[in-house]
Amino acid sequence: MSEENSTVPVEWGPMRSFGRIKSRKLKPLQATLFDTLLPEIEATGARVDAALASGRELWLEIGFGGGEHLAAQAAKNPDVTFIGCEPFLNGVGSALRHIEDGGLKNVLILPGDARPLLDNLPEAVLNRIFILFADPWPKARHNKRRFIQPETIAAFARALKPGGTVRFATDWADYADWALERFLASPDFDWPALSQSDWNTPPADHITTRYETKGLGDCEPVFFDFVRK
Ligand SMILES: C[S@@+](CC[C@H](N)C(=O)[O-])C[C@H]1O[C@@H](n2cnc3c(N)ncnc32)[C@H](O)[C@@H]1O
Repeated sequence: MSEENSTVPVEWGPMRSFGRIKSRKLKPLQATLFDTLLPEIEATGARVDAALASGRELWLEIGFGGGEHLAAQAAKNPDVTFIGCEPFLNGVGSALRHIEDGGLKNVLILPGDARPLLDNLPEAVLNRIFILFADPWPKARHNKRRFIQPETIAAFARALKPGGTVRFATDWADYADWALERFLASPDFDWPALSQSDWNTPPADHITTRYETKGLGDCEPVFFDFVRK
């Protein structure tokens, strides 16, 4: 992960896949945690290197929102190191609060875009990637801002271990079709779903996210678990 170890960067282009990075003023405790906790758990190159050297499983959540899923998964899986990426600073503040409240010691936070991190990870180091209820960018002229693109799928393939998985969830029918089409076009992923219940029922280890409960999309949530060949 250190700069000298980084592989050739992928060309992402100028597209921003996220919306606002700050809304309301941070709550006082969250603002304090930015100064106290974040410096201790920020996903710096050195900390990611140490996590890689530890031999523990490494799971990545991209766009963790308020961090409820990230914190709950980290609490349920203490032997795994988690990296959570989120550019929305109020979400980072909320996640820091969950991490503090849960006394979690196995989470690293990157308060920013996940794509440079993906570029800089060594090959075949991640066990799992979660992208849950990604920004749908439903208007056709905004589709190019969707996080799932052939380039991101190639970056997932590079960073995942063989047998590693990407969980993609959405409640927008068009984004579900979009993601499925692109993952199935990739030579690097299998989609082992056999029946409808494999994608229209939350997986046993899923933790409901805050955005999911809002039901803002135009379909019931779908969950795709893609497997790195
Ligand atoms: C619709 S929200 C869902 C949040 C959360 N996963 C949930 O289900 O409650 C999508 C989140 O993805 C984040 N996001 C978008 N592009 C991102 C990127 N390139 N890297 C990291 N996070 C990103 C956004 O800031 C936003 O908070």
